[in-house]
Amino acid sequence: MRHFSYFLSFCLFNFLVIPHGKSSNTSAVCVDIINQTCKTCADESASFNYNFCLTSLQTVPVSHATNLQGLALVAMELALQNASNTVSSIKELLTNTTSFDPFAFACLEDCMELYLGAVLTIVDSVGAFLSEHYINAKLWLSLVVESATTCEEGFAEKKGEVSPLTKKNHDLIQLCNTALCIIHLLTHAIPS
Ligand SMILES: *[C@@H]1O[C@H](CO)[C@@H](O)[C@H](O)[C@H]1NC(C)=O
Ligand SMILES: *[C@@H]1O[C@H](CO)[C@@H](O)[C@H](O)[C@H]1NC(C)=O
Ligand SMILES: *[C@@H]1O[C@H](CO)[C@@H](O)[C@H](O)[C@H]1NC(C)=O
Ligand SMILES: *[C@@H]1O[C@H](CO)[C@@H](O)[C@H](O)[C@H]1NC(C)=O
Repeated sequence: MRHFSYFLSFCLFNFLVIPHGKSSNTSAVCVDIINQTCKTCADESASFNYNFCLTSLQTVPVSHATNLQGLALVAMELALQNASNTVSSIKELLTNTTSFDPFAFACLEDCMELYLGAVLTIVDSVGAFLSEHYINAKLWLSLVVESATTCEEGFAEKKGEVSPLTKKNHDLIQLCNTALCIIHLLTHAIPS
């Protein structure tokens, strides 16, 4: 995936420009950045999940040596992987015609369309971010949140219907919210 090269360049960049004495311990500095960033985001919004932010950003090794720009990209990359994985999952669910009633099957088909669009939209968002069109990057990410929400709400329209995608929709929304918050921090105050 070509975006990883950008991550690497951000990491290298970071090694060069960390402006304070902590640079001798990069891993500690970076855990700090993740921790602080997630905490700042959680402080700004009651619906923001601090633990999800912390654990998801820490699973990507490269994010242990990064700056705020790098963290935003990590969150978007995770969202992209998430959405792509969910496309595969839905595809698999759709091959199993016996386990869903026609309503749920139609919902899954809608979700498939929404998720295929979401994958492209996240790629657009990364592109906008890299060219520093932060407003557009945020707009695309908001659209992805809307897609996952719409997917989930489809199932809720019929009483008793259980969405098989609740966790996946929720995960994608959280990852986008993490990216949105980091981009917001980048364009406003950097947490100190
Ligand atoms: C960096 O910090 C971590 C946690 O504080 C510590 O466990 C580790 O030994 C440190 N590494 C170096 C090279 O100082
Ligand atoms: C994050 O920071 C808080 C407060 O500064 C601290 O109590 C907590 O242990 C830190 N967590 C991690 C995973 O570094
Ligand atoms: C989505 O991302 C979250 C957090 O990184 C992870 O726990 C989850 O397994 C991912 N889900 C999929 C379907 O990739
Ligand atoms: C289809 O769904 C049923 C019920 O959930 C399950 O038992 C079965 O293993 C599934 N078949 C395939 C091919 O996934």
